[in-house]
Amino acid sequence: MRLAIASDHAGYDLKKAIIEFLHHKGIEVIDFGCGPGEIVDYVDYGVKAVNSVIEGECEGAILFCGTGLGMAIVANKFPCIRATPCWDEFTARVSRSHNNSNCLTLGGRVLDLEKAKQIVEIWLTTNFEGGRHARRLNKIEALEKNNFKQNNLE
Ligand code: RB5
Repeated sequence: MRLAIASDHAGYDLKKAIIEFLHHKGIEVIDFGCGPGEIVDYVDYGVKAVNSVIEGECEGAILFCGTGLGMAIVANKFPCIRATPCWDEFTARVSRSHNNSNCLTLGGRVLDLEKAKQIVEIWLTTNFEGGRHARRLNKIEALEKNNFKQNNLE
């Protein structure tokens, strides 16, 4: 499995630690920045990582900013990206089982490393349940295809 990774300055330290965690698990990553000591806009780095998922270079993404919120807002502008800010084990689990999340966003200013590792572990190992959840995601996909007009969603 290969994951796209990106952060701004507020997510940088947590990103570095989680990259190490992923390496130990044998997961390949592409780090799209930012680098150490830079002060940047999260948008610019989130976009790069998300594009690599859309282009099929990476299977999913983990994005870091101060809260995980800005990165989620950016990532969810893109069709077929389901970005989910997660802050505990429960949100990590249902982000996969219900939302089929393909982009986890984490906040370097709100999570400690142990909690972040637990979230990543659950996000990586929980399967999508399908069924009624697939129907709901299909409606979101239909909205994207219909230019957000809420008709013909079935
Ligand atoms: C940067 O100061 C901060 O605003 C950013 O990391 C993030 O929390 C935005 O959602």
